[in-house]
Amino acid sequence: MSYNNILVEENHGITTITINRPNKLNALNKETIEELHEAFKDEEEDDDTKVVILTGSGEKAFVAGADISEFANFDVNEGTKLAAKGQEMLFDFVENFSKPVIAAVNGFALGGGLELAMACHFRIASDNAKMGLPEVSLGVIPGYGGTQRLPQLVGKGRAMEMILTAGMIDANQALNYGLVNHVVPQEELIPLCEKIANKIANNSLVAISSAIRAINANFEDGVNGYDVEIEEFGNCFGTDDFTEGTTAFLKKRKANFPGR
Ligand code: COA
Repeated sequence: MSYNNILVEENHGITTITINRPNKLNALNKETIEELHEAFKDEEEDDDTKVVILTGSGEKAFVAGADISEFANFDVNEGTKLAAKGQEMLFDFVENFSKPVIAAVNGFALGGGLELAMACHFRIASDNAKMGLPEVSLGVIPGYGGTQRLPQLVGKGRAMEMILTAGMIDANQALNYGLVNHVVPQEELIPLCEKIANKIANNSLVAISSAIRAINANFEDGVNGYDVEIEEFGNCFGTDDFTEGTTAFLKKRKANFPGR
């Protein structure tokens, strides 16, 4: 499939999706959101893809936000639809993706860009990265899950300060907040993401999908995460990966998971 705004590259089970609008600091316009949705849908069905790395092109930005030029004239109805559609089509889709998604935050991650990074399963940043939710400086609030995911990740007080000041934090402060897991020089960012992705890809991807669902259940309204964990745990016992993993351990050999 060919896209206008993103690049998709698969290499030994690791698929890198790069948002490719460097002249607009990779701002998320409608078409980019749709293309990202299509690409993630394809990767979900592609058995060759074990882990996805999501990043931005160029050295300056991961994503500098939703494309302001597209919504500057919206009314209440259009604004509501923009948030609802975007959340469903991309942000919730990525959060609930059955394969791990790592955000490689290679520069500015602002507004919808930080929201997209937060929808990923975890984040690794280059040392030039800057993160923030500047929406209130534009007279609007985060609409792609930022008011919910930022407090989940950094705590309510820090999220309040970031959102209400509209300020940016640098990569080290993001590390200190637990918003990113590692900070490395820019040239080491993708290699580190790939190293971690390879480590993940050696494990049972069936069990990994179960773990993602169980962890996400902790943050879903009206869902008892412990009950989801029990169910997902039990289901693992019916998989070939479980048979292979336990047999390999007992026979003191490396597991070769069939992925079912
Ligand atoms: N939407 C649309 N266009 C954007 C954008 C966004 N969120 N962020 C950057 N761009 C565009 C700029 O308009 C500019 O385009 P132009 O060259 O056609 O004028 C280009 O990307 C480069 O950005 P520029 O502002 O010139 O770069 P800078 O280095 O001076 O500043 C930022 C970088 C990130 C501080 C600045 O671009 C910015 O504040 N962006 C908006 C961030 C934001 O509020 N995001 C939340 C949106 S809800």
